[in-house]
Amino acid sequence: MEKCLLLGNGAREAVIAEAMSQKYELYSIMPYENPSIVAFVKNSKGKFLIGSPFDKELVKRFIQENDIKYCIISSDNLLQEGLIDLAKELGLKTFGPTSKAAKIEWSKTYALEVVKELEPKMIIQNFEVNSEAALEEVAKVYSDENFVVKPEGLTGGKGVKVGGIHFATKEEGIAYAKECLKQSGKVILQDKVKGKEFTVMCLTDGKTVITLPTTFDYPYRYNEDKGPGTGGMGCIGFANGLLPFLTEQDIETCRNLMEKTIHFLNQESLEFTGILYGGFFKTEEGIKFIEFNARFGDPEAMNVINSFETPFADVAEDVFNRKFIGKKLPI
Ligand code: GLY
Repeated sequence: MEKCLLLGNGAREAVIAEAMSQKYELYSIMPYENPSIVAFVKNSKGKFLIGSPFDKELVKRFIQENDIKYCIISSDNLLQEGLIDLAKELGLKTFGPTSKAAKIEWSKTYALEVVKELEPKMIIQNFEVNSEAALEEVAKVYSDENFVVKPEGLTGGKGVKVGGIHFATKEEGIAYAKECLKQSGKVILQDKVKGKEFTVMCLTDGKTVITLPTTFDYPYRYNEDKGPGTGGMGCIGFANGLLPFLTEQDIETCRNLMEKTIHFLNQESLEFTGILYGGFFKTEEGIKFIEFNARFGDPEAMNVINSFETPFADVAEDVFNRKFIGKKLPI
């Protein structure tokens, strides 16, 4: 069996480990033992190390000492920090974007700029704010709490706050925007729109794009959609790959944007492979863009990986080798 490094240690990686261990000898570096990943690594006769996957010297040594040839990463911070870039430099075949391409997730302003250029009608009115003075001006646009505050960088799904849900008054929302501004020097204020949120993920080897079954995420911590937002407490998908409120045309609209985005990210050199995750709203004015992630959603990976007709490890092999052609692919 070929040797494959899997970095990241969430529930998502446990599912990836289960699928990849069918075909690969798995290697992993994790800060603490994730029992599922450890079990799949051991079953595959691979090896794991307790340590920081962000420690590039450690990762490099582990790759070289074990003669690892493949690398799969689907974790936002690791992608931002360039662990795929490191694997590529060391000659590994990779599944996951470089840091430059993962910017589509780790910079919310960049993602909005790209979508504005590619499909302006999918943009919800928003304001990028770089200073307290600019924030005061933008605050005048909103008469009440009906807006959304989006931090610029990665927040593990817990950063976006919606008026009427996460903050009760305009003043509270602006105070949170100020906090975000202090942290990263940028924050986005966006109109709050009425609609149904959904996720479409696309799988790509950089050239071919496959649309995966649509999912509906439940991000609130408590029952009945109450409590703070989380990365995801669970999600649903249906056998036909759609959700009851979506049409094939809606998915086509999302796919069109995602194809253009992947093409845009890869136009100078091959930077983006793996999964592009699109968060969208279905509104009365059409499908609107919320955000991109440069990886599998967690928990969405569980539903979607298990719905593949072709084993995920075979699909990943095609991504590693940049060739989708001639194989039976997922729905
Ligand atoms: N479940 C949402 C995310 O992974 O970002």
